[in-house]
Amino acid sequence: MKILFASSEAHPLIKTGGLADVSGALPKALRDLKQDVRLVLPAYQELLARAGHLTEVARLALTGSVEPVRVLEGVLPGSAVPVYLIDAPLCFDRPGNPYSGPDGKDWPDNAQRFAVFCRAIVELAQDRVGLNWRPDRVHCNDWQTGLVPALLSLETPRPATIFTVHNLAYQGLFDQAGFLALDLPSTWWSMHALEFHGHLSFIKGGLVFADALTTVSPTYAAEIRTPEFGCGLDGLLNQRAAQLTGILNGADYALWDPASDPLLDAHFSRQSLKGKDANKQALQQFFGLPTDARLPLFAHIGRLVEQKGIDLVLDILPELMRRPLQLAMLGSGQAAFEAALRAAQTVYPERLGIRIGYDEGLAHRIEAGADLFLMPSRFEPCGLNQIYSLRYGTLPIVRRTGGLADTVVDATPASLDAGTATGFVFDAATPEALLACIDRALRLYTQRTAWTRAIKNAMAQDFSWARSAQLYLKLYLDLYRAT
Ligand code: ADP
Ligand code: GLC
Repeated sequence: MKILFASSEAHPLIKTGGLADVSGALPKALRDLKQDVRLVLPAYQELLARAGHLTEVARLALTGSVEPVRVLEGVLPGSAVPVYLIDAPLCFDRPGNPYSGPDGKDWPDNAQRFAVFCRAIVELAQDRVGLNWRPDRVHCNDWQTGLVPALLSLETPRPATIFTVHNLAYQGLFDQAGFLALDLPSTWWSMHALEFHGHLSFIKGGLVFADALTTVSPTYAAEIRTPEFGCGLDGLLNQRAAQLTGILNGADYALWDPASDPLLDAHFSRQSLKGKDANKQALQQFFGLPTDARLPLFAHIGRLVEQKGIDLVLDILPELMRRPLQLAMLGSGQAAFEAALRAAQTVYPERLGIRIGYDEGLAHRIEAGADLFLMPSRFEPCGLNQIYSLRYGTLPIVRRTGGLADTVVDATPASLDAGTATGFVFDAATPEALLACIDRALRLYTQRTAWTRAIKNAMAQDFSWARSAQLYLKLYLDLYRAT
């Protein structure tokens, strides 16, 4: 089957979060299943610098673009996946983050930028760029590709479309002037199409028009049909419930395995845990914390936004710092959270290590060196760091939501006895519930035999992409209706 996989980021070319991990790994896993998958991405400046050899395969005149748009072809580094890059310099040849400027604010022309990206994807999908390659399925991801299912609905014949929601909270909302500037059918300014409370909604292009909808865990698929998690779109998602499924993300163990991870100071595995101590010591040194092997080292890596429950961590910090533990955190995001963490570090220099920024290598070293991983998310479509943590024997402490609920088994007397415990799970999104859960973890940490057993059990979990890729393939095969 020929599949065009459209995304606004993919590891190792460009990454701001888990979407890149998925878009870098799932096409590879589908290729391992002998499918002809090709990836399409915007040609951001930073990405072009890493893309290696590229050939121009087409030049397009697109609605909404004042310049000709080039399609460049290369391969996803470290794989055999062909990549098409949409090179529209006015849209993508600028420094920094794919979605926001140096001031942290969204680029003001995001509607035009990603509309150009979407129109180029439609040309590829309809084989109008001279490649002589017509995909059977177009798999779109998140709002940046939301206009693709909408625009393809105007074409006959056309490939079937799949739209995956990685995070319903990011919807690609723009004002009505933005809608008018994009030259879309005027009938789409309707609550039954792209209009959402007086705004243009890119994500609705996917949610309304795609032939199949997925999200990245079974629990999140159920949650987004409720007002609490639906971000105002639960009504629509309930209407489309028959087309909506949850497929859990996987982990790319070629990149995230402590037995072979080239970014680590020392390797270790379930059979030989010794190297984990060396990673812990190196991490303590890196963060300027006392190198005490006995103190439990907690960690967090992630975007510093409300979704991730950073406010809960900040709320309990004074209490936490009274306990015998250390905490190392890596992240960037909302300025207020960054400032609060920096300030806290000066209060607890012996206990708290903070790095504000984005650092791929450090993220791996934290997974390897920490004992416990904090992920108290208010909502979490899937979450990858807890899955990586399991493999690195770093027991996750998570809230029972979305993919966290689907991947971590709470350590209870029963699950510990049965040997199924892999971490710690709490329910209420409150500082008290988080702290109580941490205290449970601290108690288990002192019981060395039970602790080692839980670590080994966590490391034995297998969330490799092969299984999820099979589920996507089945979904692609089931979609005969539209083609
Ligand atoms: P989300 O996509 O919501 O940000 P995920 O857990 O799915 O959350 O994926 C986050 C990915 O981004 C992981 O691979 C994580 O290691 C990485 N990441 C997040 N913040 C940072 C950071 N500051 N430095 C390095 N890697 C980071
Ligand atoms: C989103 C979600 C995260 C998920 C990732 C990849 O960024 O916040 O939970 O793991 O997408 O699907």
